[in-house]
Amino acid sequence: MDFLTQILDLTGKGAKAYVLARQIRDRKTRPHILTSLYLSEASSVPYLEALQKRAKLEGKKWLSQQLQMHASDEKKHSRIFAYTLEKYGKKVEPFDPNSKSSEQKASPMFIAYFEGYDREQLIPENINWSVYAASTYVLEASSAKDYKLMAKALPEDNLQERKLKMGLLSIAKDEARHANYLHEVLKRESPKVEEILDFWQARHAKALWAMANHINF
Ligand SMILES: [Fe+2]
Ligand SMILES: [Fe+2]
Repeated sequence: MDFLTQILDLTGKGAKAYVLARQIRDRKTRPHILTSLYLSEASSVPYLEALQKRAKLEGKKWLSQQLQMHASDEKKHSRIFAYTLEKYGKKVEPFDPNSKSSEQKASPMFIAYFEGYDREQLIPENINWSVYAASTYVLEASSAKDYKLMAKALPEDNLQERKLKMGLLSIAKDEARHANYLHEVLKRESPKVEEILDFWQARHAKALWAMANHINF
């Protein structure tokens, strides 16, 4: 990453951290952020399950096991949010991969992150394993930090908040574990680990800013 991208990265992460902490701390905005988190966790499950099947077909046994655990973790995370939202009296619609509702459309962050890749290159049947491992590694490592930060920002005034805080901390641990196996996948798939990660980290920095343009601070 060049110096300017590093600054962009740091300030982008800072801005995101600020928004997440503020939204989870405030009881009025909390259901909204929990719904976004629910959708992002739930939407990754069918993708990971399809990747797992492909890895198995390609004889990548270790990878297929990792992907199976990954998919079941993300399913568990989406359930934690669905459960909490129900306790707040919010009905959670089961995630439908074919729905085109506004919340389920690709986010500006996702579009910027994968700029230059067409849909066909990114579907689980085709995605290059190094591209999958590196791009997801960066997202998982960043979400591990975000979840830890949200747990810290959450008040502990009642049992529900204390339960959610514990849930967020356990999710943070899982996301860090996902980042670890993805790093290992990348090492197995490519000799240019640092170079590829640098590329995706720089993209992540720019994508955060694409997202920031759509947020009211
Ligand atoms: Fe997750
Ligand atoms: Fe994850």
